[in-house]
Amino acid sequence: MTHTISFYGAGNMAQAIIAGLISSGFYKKEEIYVYNHRYEPTLQKLEEEYGIQPILNEKDLFEKSDLVILAVKPAVLTQILPQVKKYLREEHVLVSLAAGISIRQITDLTGPHKIIRAIPNTPAMVNQAMSSISPNNLTTKEEVQLVLEVFNKFGKAKVVSEQLIDAVVGVSGSAPAYVYLFIEALADGAVAQGLSRNDAYEFAAQAVLGAAKMVEETGKHPAELKDMVTSPKGTTIAAVQSLEMSNFRASVIKAVEAAAQKNRQMSEEK
Ligand SMILES: NC(=O)c1ccc[n+]([C@@H]2O[C@H](COP(=O)([O-])OP(=O)(O)OC[C@H]3O[C@@H](n4cnc5c(N)ncnc54)[C@H](OP(=O)(O)O)[C@@H]3O)[C@@H](O)[C@H]2O)c1
Repeated sequence: MTHTISFYGAGNMAQAIIAGLISSGFYKKEEIYVYNHRYEPTLQKLEEEYGIQPILNEKDLFEKSDLVILAVKPAVLTQILPQVKKYLREEHVLVSLAAGISIRQITDLTGPHKIIRAIPNTPAMVNQAMSSISPNNLTTKEEVQLVLEVFNKFGKAKVVSEQLIDAVVGVSGSAPAYVYLFIEALADGAVAQGLSRNDAYEFAAQAVLGAAKMVEETGKHPAELKDMVTSPKGTTIAAVQSLEMSNFRASVIKAVEAAAQKNRQMSEEK
């Protein structure tokens, strides 16, 4: 594989990935090609900000690299695949970010090709994405490894089988929104107790960030970490008791299930 990467689409996700790739030095700006159906405003912004190679001709994009990230909305992806099919070679690895479009649906439109589905999340914008990578059986180990490395440059990435994507959408793809609700609610509680609004968001966000780091870095079970901070008759156990009485854990489990089910249903409808 050539050490170049092409992006079809120049929106939020493409920009977040490109920022991570350039800041990590994994690709040089001259090795990144980006196609968009129009130059202004996003392609122009990417050229000015990062010095990437803007491409306005689809054929050129597929000639520049074997690795192509398809970073357009699902409805656009199903429109463009039949028209770019003629530019595809055996060596191409297509990485689709489109939610709800299966590998089977992609190959129905392109014919048999190396396809990888990837589900990143919005913290990609601050280099803290969690992404799943689901390859089809035409991809090689080296190609999957390369895609994992690319996605690790703007967060963390793991290979999961395609049938687990619904679970991934529930636990990480959609999860930032539930965490924002939690942070907002924490802050509201603190404001009710007298903290200023700005301080409340800062304290709440840092508490969530710190707790997540504790889970990641200590490798301890979340229940053990919870037990470590709940002293007898203390403040924390009083709050935990209150959350349990409001079905906090059951509500979160149901929310993950709702997102997974919705993703499954959307995939079936397409
Ligand atoms: N954002 C997320 O958190 C997230 C998370 C997981 C997966 N995804 C997936 O990632 C993909 C991209 O999402 P996004 O948030 O980056 O979307 P986005 O910001 O709307 O970007 C889409 C890009 O596609 C371009 N485009 C639109 N129509 C086109 C066409 N006919 N031909 C070529 N390019 C066209 C747009 O150009 P113009 O703007 O110039 O029209 C834009 O550059 C989607 O499939 C989404 O499901 C996103």
